[in-house]
Amino acid sequence: MTQRTALVTGGTGGIGTAIIRYLAGQGHRVASNYRDEAKAEQWRKAMAAEGIEVCMVPGDVSDPVSCEAMNKAIEEKCGPVEILVNNAGITRDTTFHKMNYQQWTDVINTNLNACFNVTRPVIEGMRARKWGRIVQISSINGQKGQYGQANYAAAKAGMHGFTISLAQENAKFGITVNTVSPGYVGTDMVMAVPEEVREKIVAQIPVGRLGKPEEIAHAVAFFTGEQASWITGANLAINGGHYMGW
Ligand code: CAA
Repeated sequence: MTQRTALVTGGTGGIGTAIIRYLAGQGHRVASNYRDEAKAEQWRKAMAAEGIEVCMVPGDVSDPVSCEAMNKAIEEKCGPVEILVNNAGITRDTTFHKMNYQQWTDVINTNLNACFNVTRPVIEGMRARKWGRIVQISSINGQKGQYGQANYAAAKAGMHGFTISLAQENAKFGITVNTVSPGYVGTDMVMAVPEEVREKIVAQIPVGRLGKPEEIAHAVAFFTGEQASWITGANLAINGGHYMGW
């Protein structure tokens, strides 16, 4: 296989960590960003103990200036980004009639505007080298909406609009752009949903359980592989059957 440099934003989170493990396991150089240096260093050491050297750089995905610097730092430390996984994300759940502007903009900036901030600095290099893989980590709730998530659902739906436009613009440059839409996976983000609400949600999942981060990472690795060169603009739902759009 060809060794590539992969940037996974939000690598220290549940799904991000699984993606980093999977891509490193395939032999790629892996990079991620952080805002909290102490937390990142602890995580980096834990990954190193597993034999995975992650190139960590400071970077706030909600800030375009920070993302320019982040991209430069990655390029210097481990080479230009050839695989990009826009994975970093947050929630600020509340019903819309109670939502304030900060809760709206925090989620739009970190989940959707980040696609611009992180992808814009890497796209020209991918086009020049005529190879690239970009994956957006969206959500089931971008596809079906969710009570209490007008901000998050809007951002996650927007991510796939970004995917299908970028896919068209960059197809001739050997760059594929796809979306993975996870359902409810057993990460800190989902475990923060009040237990009684979460139990009702799990009861709606035909497979009968929360997803595992590795089950999402497997699909990301599929899209980023060399052989997935004719798959672009797709949105793959991985949700235990919770939502079956077509
Ligand atoms: N459909 C219909 N009614 C619902 C409902 C639903 N899905 N969820 C809640 N309600 C109702 C309640 O039954 C309650 O009704 P009553 O007042 O008649 O008893 C009412 O809504 C409560 O509404 P409030 O406005 O008072 O809401 P709240 O302040 O209690 O909290 C909430 C609402 C924050 C949205 C809470 O229900 C919640 O956390 N829901 C889960 C949201 C969720 O799924 N988040 C996913 C996070 S993980 C993630 O995002 C990862 C991913 O990609 C999947």
